[in-house]
Parts: sequence; C-alpha cells; structure tokens
Amino acid sequence: MKLMVIVGSVRPGRVGLPIAQWVHQRAASSDRFSVDFVDLAELALPFMDEPAHPARRAYTKPHTIAWSERVDAADGFILVSPEYNHSYSPVLKNALDYLAQEWKHKPVSIVSYGGVSAGTRGAAALEQVLTTLGLVKTGANVEINFVAQHVRDGQFHPEDKHDSILHTALNQMHDLHEALSPLRALAA
Ligand SMILES: Cc1cc2nc3c(=O)[nH]c(=O)nc-3n(C[C@H](O)[C@H](O)[C@H](O)COP(=O)(O)O)c2cc1C
Repeated sequence: MKLMVIVGSVRPGRVGLPIAQWVHQRAASSDRFSVDFVDLAELALPFMDEPAHPARRAYTKPHTIAWSERVDAADGFILVSPEYNHSYSPVLKNALDYLAQEWKHKPVSIVSYGGVSAGTRGAAALEQVLTTLGLVKTGANVEINFVAQHVRDGQFHPEDKHDSILHTALNQMHDLHEALSPLRALAA
C-alpha cells in the first residue's frame, strides 16, 4: 500500500522531522509499504485559500490541485503530530482542511510526542478532525513522552516500546487498508 508520512511541525530545529524519518525508515523496511514523505515545511501550503468547500473539488489553485492528487494517491497516513498548548499543530489542521474526499475511508495512525503527556491531548483533539474527514484510526498509536531525551544530533533514538508500537500500528494500517478498500471502491 502507498503510505503517506506527514511531518506535522514546520519549526526550525523541530524534533518532528527526525521522528518522521524514523517512521519512514521502519515503514520502508517492509515490502508492504511504499512511502510518500510529506514535509509540510517543504509543501508550504498557504492558509486554506479556496473559495468553495473542498467536498466540491472545485479547486482553483495549483497548490491545492497538487496536494489533492498527492493525497488521492495515498492509501493511508501516519501523522507525526506535536502538541502545542494541549492541541495539535495549526499547520497540520490547515493541510487536512484543504481536502475532503481524498481522505475518506482511509486508515490513519498518529505518532504523538511532547512532555509528560506524550502529546496525547493533541492527539485526542486531532481525532475529531480525522473522523469528520472519514479517516479511520488505528488502535495502536505511538506516544513519545519526554521527547527531547530521545533526540540527539538530529536523530531520533527510539525505545523498544516505540519500535514495538509502531510495528503494531503499521500492521493495523495494512489490515485497515484491506478492510476499507471495498468501501473506497463503492464511494468512487
Ligand atoms: C507553541 C508551543 C506550545 C507547546 N505546548 C506544549 C504542550 O501543550 N504540551 C507538551 O507536551 N509540549 C508542548 N510544547 C513543547 C513541545 O512538545 C516541544 O517543543 C516539541 O519539540 C515540539 O515539537 P516540534 O519540535 O516537532 O515542533 C510546546 C512547544 C511550543 C513551541
């Protein structure tokens, strides 16, 4: 399946990038996944600037059309999501808001990170947005607490539990993709 990994932070020095690189590397080591790595800093979408609701797909801007085609091509998503003030990042919400049908009936998993709470308050807030878009979340979601202790020299150093939960989440992602495929075909 085609898996999109989205880096949900665009700050200079962000820890989200090395965490997403770890996710990418683990997913790409399985022949079940081909990975499209989306760095929202590189994608550089402006604040959502389309006149029509995305459900109409009446896109007017080249950046929206390109983003729509890229998300359409993906079968599932892993969102690498920081926690800012007990919620998720605005840049991630913006990228999600741009589109509608492109997300529908596809699996999603969250890799959250932060301090003592491992970004789980942000992940819980994000869940409402994901279900509204018709995404289906895996039961296993990686949660990384005290994230700064795991990033050295621009590299993420996972604990065994992080690798193990990511492995489970990837298995669930693949199973959900298979289970949801008939629904996607019906909706097409
Ligand atoms: C604006 C802002 C708000 C933050 N709020 C929280 C928070 O609510 N909970 C938390 O655990 N960490 C919070 N942090 C600390 C982040 O977990 C930490 O800075 C982390 O590195 C952010 O991810 P990033 O480097 O990928 O952007 C906040 C950081 C910033 C910049």
